[in-house]
Amino acid sequence: MTSSPTFDNLKAAIANASSLAELERVEQELYSRKHGAITQAMKRLGTLSPEERAKEGKALNAVKQDFTRLLEERKGALGAAALGSLAETDGIDVTLTLPEREHGHLHLIPEFIRQVEEVFGRMGFEVAEGPEVETEDNNFNLLNVPETHPARDAQDTFWIAEDSLPAHRSPATRDEGEPPGGRYVLRTHTSPVQVRYMQDHKPPLRIICPGKVYRKDADATHSPMFHQFEGLMIGKDVSLANMKAVMVTAIRELISPKAEFRFRTGFFPFVEPGLEVDMKWQGEEGQSREGKWLEIVGCGLVHPNVLRNCGIDPKEWQGFAFGFGIERMIMIKHQIPDIRALYNGDLRFLRQF
Ligand code: DAH
Repeated sequence: MTSSPTFDNLKAAIANASSLAELERVEQELYSRKHGAITQAMKRLGTLSPEERAKEGKALNAVKQDFTRLLEERKGALGAAALGSLAETDGIDVTLTLPEREHGHLHLIPEFIRQVEEVFGRMGFEVAEGPEVETEDNNFNLLNVPETHPARDAQDTFWIAEDSLPAHRSPATRDEGEPPGGRYVLRTHTSPVQVRYMQDHKPPLRIICPGKVYRKDADATHSPMFHQFEGLMIGKDVSLANMKAVMVTAIRELISPKAEFRFRTGFFPFVEPGLEVDMKWQGEEGQSREGKWLEIVGCGLVHPNVLRNCGIDPKEWQGFAFGFGIERMIMIKHQIPDIRALYNGDLRFLRQF
């Protein structure tokens, strides 16, 4: 049975098939449910004695494997021939391999911001946002930096003429009784997002606020536009020790477990006490900044005046705030000596990361 004339004919038919369609017809003759030669042979097995069935079954399996192989081989040959004739008639080079597509990636800054959100997210911090055109009140006054305060000098910035503001924010369309909010500025830091958030939410609070900020400085470590992320945690007994733990965890995760840094006292009118953190510049040997310290963050316990200004009772609540410079962290992490490399869009620089 396994070497029946039918099987031999079908083997020949496979070898002679001159198109894929013809090959499919032979396949049908082998396997169709009603009349397929293999199907019929399988059915016949059922009528045999157990000994014969075992013997014939084994032989039939070998035949099936033979056919599978023959069909595959012929399919491959006919497929290649079809491509070859395509090449001949249409002049298509079927052997052509296209150059690999180049895949881009996020720029270092948005990539870092995502990491920041992820690392602080795991510590229970939510992401909050505020506008880049900010009121003088939110950017300065409510943060305990009145107009005459010398701390304003360090954050000199771009002031915005009121008549250039969109109509919904101009004084003419302000609701009656709505506080004027003073003049408008391009925000000099992300700290005003603290104010906005505390005015709208009741403690306990835990937020980070990444975004762009604007100042007038420009050199290798300063840019008139750069990025910061603010952090704020308010609770019943949130302490300086909690602040240190959160910040050290974040620095180690975001920059390196071996990052070297130092906390030292610093002054910011919106915190008391205030601190700054410097990081050791671990540049390659010979780089000008190697071994120097670079300030990357200001922080401290939120000043009672700021809490009060935002409607939170400082006798009941306390907490910490910090403001990291994102570019500075990236510069230390990747040993980039000049902040401007992050903005000039040179692909030879960007492709290294
Ligand atoms: N806003 C400060 C700056 O840009 C940084 C800062 C210092 C933020 C202390 C804070 C803080 O939240 O507590 O220089």
